[in-house]
Amino acid sequence: MCGIVGYIGKKNTKKILLDGLKELEYRGYDSAGIAVLQQGEFSSYKATGKLINLQEKTKDFITDKFAVGIGHTRWATHGKPTELNAHPHVGESSYVVHNGIIENYAELKKELLTNGVTFLSQTDTEVIVHQFEKNLKTVSSPFEAFKETISQLQGAYAILLVTKSEPETIFFAKNGSPLLVGIDTDNDKYFASSDTPLIGYCSDVNYFEDGEYGYVTPDTLRIYSKEHQLQEPHFTKLPTNKLSAQKDGYRFFMEKEIYEQHDVITDTLLGRLSESSVHFDELETDFFEGIEEIKLCACGTSYHAALTASYLFERNSKIKTSVEVASELRYREPILSKDTLFVVISQSGETADTLETLKMAKNAGLKTLVICNVDNSSMVRLADASLLTRAGVEKGVASTKAFATQVTIFWMLSLYVAKEREALSQAEIIEQVALLREVPSSVKVSDALHERIKRLSKRYLHGHGFFFIGRDIFFPLALEGALKLKEISYLHAEGYPSGEMKHGPIALADPELFTIALLPQHLLYEKAKSNVEELSARDATICAISPLVFDKADDFIQTQSHKHYMLEFFEMMVILQLLSLEISIRLGNDVDMPRNLAKSVTVE
Ligand code: G6P
Repeated sequence: MCGIVGYIGKKNTKKILLDGLKELEYRGYDSAGIAVLQQGEFSSYKATGKLINLQEKTKDFITDKFAVGIGHTRWATHGKPTELNAHPHVGESSYVVHNGIIENYAELKKELLTNGVTFLSQTDTEVIVHQFEKNLKTVSSPFEAFKETISQLQGAYAILLVTKSEPETIFFAKNGSPLLVGIDTDNDKYFASSDTPLIGYCSDVNYFEDGEYGYVTPDTLRIYSKEHQLQEPHFTKLPTNKLSAQKDGYRFFMEKEIYEQHDVITDTLLGRLSESSVHFDELETDFFEGIEEIKLCACGTSYHAALTASYLFERNSKIKTSVEVASELRYREPILSKDTLFVVISQSGETADTLETLKMAKNAGLKTLVICNVDNSSMVRLADASLLTRAGVEKGVASTKAFATQVTIFWMLSLYVAKEREALSQAEIIEQVALLREVPSSVKVSDALHERIKRLSKRYLHGHGFFFIGRDIFFPLALEGALKLKEISYLHAEGYPSGEMKHGPIALADPELFTIALLPQHLLYEKAKSNVEELSARDATICAISPLVFDKADDFIQTQSHKHYMLEFFEMMVILQLLSLEISIRLGNDVDMPRNLAKSVTVE
């Protein structure tokens, strides 16, 4: 998804902008660009593809004086990923970068065209710069023109704009897309759409709220609320440790993140377990009072965590639970009743569809909770309460450790609710709390396991598709396994409930159909085994994952013998992640930045 950076000061502007964009690479993009205003003159460079292309284009460009600069990585929404469509977009004497979507751009563009304005790109963004320059002709100052422009825009945006008519200023506005400003010890100001580009440059940052706009100059930072009131900035400390954002010797971030699961789940559990119960300091003691139902809502991998959670809530907490895909819930006029707790799940806390459903639920007067990995994200700021997953920065577009920590939080939360509702006996809660402590060791990757999967992966590079099958809570895991494979190998894969195969999909069975079968020992083993046998009898190629030897499979990955199905769930999750990783590596794909995908989807 698109990324924004900006800088005003005397340091090496080009380097700051390009380094910042590099830090945003993990979000996914297909073109990039910068514009720098130095000594009254603009220099702008754009390139499609990876940042190396932009670095190459700017190699002789020097920024050694005071300058204002803005930069952008673009993930195409309106218009193809071409150089002309890449940001920054130019008017007569101004440049703009923008994340989000301007919903009324077509109307604005029509009017600008009748005024004789020429458009260079197919983007919605370009209207912003032309509208600004149009306003500039009729109002008293560039700031007034910017303010007027913002009031004419509908949709979601994070915007930075620089103009020759006020050469020592960056104008900014935020509505629905993330944006923050940081300050260094020399009072130089930096902008970014997430905090990673600012780590190492700034110690303190201010996250803008929806509707805020304003400007920075070398000496000032002016923030106005959507009601046009001057605001005091609210600076918070930025983390200083960049180590976790590096690959640490692994081939890909995704691989590093799979291995990190042991540590991050340990962090997720930290301070939240006692001998006999689960604690969440973040939740008021009466948080679940009056709640009779839980509605979970998310996108992508987070949706699979939500599906997983629904089994845990109903089985452990004995509370009615439903699960929704955010983009579906938004427009289907759902009935939202006030005794329902609305829970959104999001790694980033910025996914547009999920964020909108959270707003919907709030407007309907529901109590809301977000399970999120990013503190200060839009969802965390909006929900009544939040539980942070503590997975750390996840750079691989294909989510791994975020999913693992989401499921961990949900298992904990199901026990927390079970205790409140007296849905499980004290002895059962004590038993599951003890099991939760074993989750970190269940996700530890042994050399032998990784080697086995590496070798096995070479047999799964072709064929006409994969089925990942499982029953009960292993069905959402099967969905997640299939999604992982699709995302990074570009092979067709589907997740299915094992028992559903005979109702249609089994027609596809032949040796070129690969079935990855999840056969846990402690949940419906015999039933799941019969379903796999049906496939085996029809000559499908089967890779079984189970602690119990299964001789009808072509390939077999033996898991450890655990005491509980949830520990089997976590070990199988790792196996599916590694299998996708190794298949993708063998196919020569860009594991961390798969084609067509973005890490954080901030448009609907
Ligand atoms: C994108 C990512 C997925 C992710 C989904 C939801 O599509 O590529 O990996 O699961 O967004 O993201 P969220 O940050 O809300 O969990």
